[in-house]
Amino acid sequence: MKSYRIVEVAPETEAALAAALPRLSELPHPLRAQVVKAWGSALASSDFTRFEDMAFAPGTGYGLLRHTREVCETGLALRASAEALWLAQIDRDALIAALLLHDLDKALLYRPGPDGNVDATIVSQRLPHGVLASLMLAEIGLDEAIIAAVATHAVDAPFRGQGPLEHILHYADMFCADQALVLSGKMPFFTKRAPGDLPAGT
Ligand SMILES: [Fe+2]
Ligand SMILES: [Fe+2]
Repeated sequence: MKSYRIVEVAPETEAALAAALPRLSELPHPLRAQVVKAWGSALASSDFTRFEDMAFAPGTGYGLLRHTREVCETGLALRASAEALWLAQIDRDALIAALLLHDLDKALLYRPGPDGNVDATIVSQRLPHGVLASLMLAEIGLDEAIIAAVATHAVDAPFRGQGPLEHILHYADMFCADQALVLSGKMPFFTKRAPGDLPAGT
């Protein structure tokens, strides 16, 4: 049995998502509708009733959509640097979509827990972070380049994509994840020294 369902998104849900993720409005059709459908389906398939209750990671109290918004802004800044410094040509729409969707499946890998925290779900023991999102995105019909970046972005993924989307997503994600970890009183990635210190699934 699938752990998610793809749904049509209600206008009020789309409005809530657009308010949380302002860069969504910059995407062309049909990419914008696909990103909306992905997040709307993740919400509908999850144990959360509101986007704002989703968390970046257990024990952090850091909002998942806040992290997503920050990763998107940081990724666009990195793209501007890559263009200025290296004359890089990076598809802006595909990059925004990958940045906005990279942690989509955390809605299904976590569920509301006690004291406003989140717990890992049964689904998280079956499919790794990134892979579940990629199944949803494939069913919705996103471009494979975007799916590949999402599917392989986790720091503990056995295979990491090597294109420009993956490059920017990685550093934008790590930069913003570290800020969330610092604010949560946890050890950030940039202070870790041994591979075994790396936390899974970020
Ligand atoms: Fe992330
Ligand atoms: Fe992630």
